[in-house]
Amino acid sequence: MSTLFGRDILRTDTLSNEELKLILSTAARFEDVTRAGGRLRNMEGRLLATLFFEPSTRTRLSFETAMLRLGGQVISVADPKTSSAVKGESLADSMRTVEGYADVIVIRHPQKGSAQEAADAVAVPVINAGDGAGQHPTQALLDVYTMQKEKGKVDGLTVALAGDLKNGRTVHSLVYLLKRLGARMIFVSPAELEMPPEIVTDLKTGGTDIQITSDLAAAMRSSDVVYVTRIQRERFEDPSRYECLKGSYVVDMALVCQAKPGITIMHPLPRVDEIATEVDAYEGAAYFRQAANGVPIRMALLALLTGRE
Ligand code: NCD
Repeated sequence: MSTLFGRDILRTDTLSNEELKLILSTAARFEDVTRAGGRLRNMEGRLLATLFFEPSTRTRLSFETAMLRLGGQVISVADPKTSSAVKGESLADSMRTVEGYADVIVIRHPQKGSAQEAADAVAVPVINAGDGAGQHPTQALLDVYTMQKEKGKVDGLTVALAGDLKNGRTVHSLVYLLKRLGARMIFVSPAELEMPPEIVTDLKTGGTDIQITSDLAAAMRSSDVVYVTRIQRERFEDPSRYECLKGSYVVDMALVCQAKPGITIMHPLPRVDEIATEVDAYEGAAYFRQAANGVPIRMALLALLTGRE
């Protein structure tokens, strides 16, 4: 059994190199079996609970798909308005209740730090599917899995991360994996939406090569991958600031044509207007393939955390 057995997945900087490799290789193995039409029964008799206190399409549905593809079963709170949180129940009490029903719990919650609080309340493995502007580790895992599939490797790639680096939890998790796997990074954002300084300090300790700019076109000329993010409207206290910043960066075909030839375009989705729909037909537009990669990655996590890989 691996060191991931019984663990929580709350952030990416707590995963060892071996654990990261194991998650990626297990995902590839599950993907091969599923693609060949094979049926997996690893999670038979096990139950997953997905508790989503914030909107989601991909993350919740791909976790549920992953569990079903492994022969397990799922219970879900998809709409927070239907849970007892609206009656004033604490997160810890909700978690202790759900622990009585399920073998693994996936939680998304608007408050940073909530996933840790949820995990502290229970003994079963808890997976953070997004805690406010904090972390989103499973998205980051599927992101590096996607880079590996699209580019054949992550080591040595130059990855531009563009958009709302301040509030985007996917990039907060992704940068730690990119550092570990040996990618160079270019951070592209308006000054107001820069990567939190504590994360930049973490990355620079250990000598990761990071450039910070507001020039997306220049960044795309020297990058193998551009990872575009949505301006996180729901994190703005002042809606007028969102109005000023939305549309700051739009990747369209004019930009793609000036970029490094063969550049891969990624986005955790949902997109609002950061990538023009004309880019969808470009062969390096990987964002829907990226979304599909969520299933094997989440299959790997569910199996590894419960010792059923
Ligand atoms: C992201 C999220 O929820 O943080 N979505 C996702 O899980 N794919 C990105 C976003 O909402 O902008």
